[in-house]
Amino acid sequence: LPPNALSGTQVLVTAGPTEEPIDPVRMLTNPSTGTMGFALAEAAAAYGATVTLVSGPTHLDTPPGVTRVDVRTAAEMHEAVQSRRHEADLVFMAAAVADYTPAHPADTKQKKDDGPLTLTLERTPDILHTLGQHKRSGQVLVGFALETDNARANAQSKRIRKNLDWIALNNASEAGSGFGTGTNALTLFGPNDHEHSIATAPKRTVAEALVTHVVRHTPALQPS
Ligand code: C5P
Repeated sequence: LPPNALSGTQVLVTAGPTEEPIDPVRMLTNPSTGTMGFALAEAAAAYGATVTLVSGPTHLDTPPGVTRVDVRTAAEMHEAVQSRRHEADLVFMAAAVADYTPAHPADTKQKKDDGPLTLTLERTPDILHTLGQHKRSGQVLVGFALETDNARANAQSKRIRKNLDWIALNNASEAGSGFGTGTNALTLFGPNDHEHSIATAPKRTVAEALVTHVVRHTPALQPS
């Protein structure tokens, strides 16, 4: 892509895990490091985009030129994304959002006893699904899928169900892919049965390939 391929384009990226409190000192979370989302934000900014990165708790440094918004819970990420969706031209939802949260988090540290503990969990909002429902013309939504079975079919149906333009599948069973690794391998599914594989590589390289492919193959993102 030309160096300023995304100048004038507003890009919104989510990254990292969410943390769902059980009590003040305990939580439900997952092993996402945020690396893939941060790499996407960095790649988009390098092409001149105005990038906002909504991040769950991570240890990563903010990429140059990127505006970062830190959140903790799925509910906070939902709020941060929905309040910014109107201006976004291109959205990458790379966050590993918790699907469930404790229904009644305790205000004080819960004491243990000898019996089992039952937690009641409730669904979190599906942030990306909400974006899909409100998608405006010309807005481009890219989601991620991490599947352990029927990966391709699940990813493709997720693309349709959430009203996405593109979905990037990383197959958890493949070595060098997914959570906590420095590398990733993706299959990208798009409109009109478009399918494109990105081979195992460092996440920054994969991010570059992903941004490049989506921009090249999306009419709404061509320079006017
Ligand atoms: O349905 P599933 O969790 O597999 O969908 C994954 C995609 O949806 C990812 O892009 C993820 O960031 C997004 N997602 C979301 N809000 C949720 C769950 C997932 O935005 N509550």
